[in-house]
Amino acid sequence: MKYSEQFWDHFLHPRNVGTIQHADGIGTVGDPACGDFLKIWIKVKNDHISKITFKCKGCPAAIATSSIMTEIAQGKHVDQAAQITDETILDAIGGLPENKQHCSNLGASALYKAIINYVFKPV
Ligand code: FES
Repeated sequence: MKYSEQFWDHFLHPRNVGTIQHADGIGTVGDPACGDFLKIWIKVKNDHISKITFKCKGCPAAIATSSIMTEIAQGKHVDQAAQITDETILDAIGGLPENKQHCSNLGASALYKAIINYVFKPV
């Protein structure tokens, strides 16, 4: 299987890389099997994700899927964003070879953790 145009675009030009000071939610995940690691930051306004950034130490597939995940989540109500799945991300990136599909799991998991962090953050 060949990598899609979206894959190369997001791997070579990842969107929303960085951190957010005073983030409303932070989510971190790692895959112990390969050592890849993803951390995301979200800023929330009126329960919508107004800003989302990420840093990833990982393979090209982890970087590309993390990048596209931020574009999918940006602007969504947190309830909608929490429903973004591994499959949503995999479809958006145009699929991945079977042995790289686990790489797309980091994005949805980190986003979910950031949303949980936002929802349950003490005021
Ligand atoms: Fe582990 Fe890609 S090889 S996330």
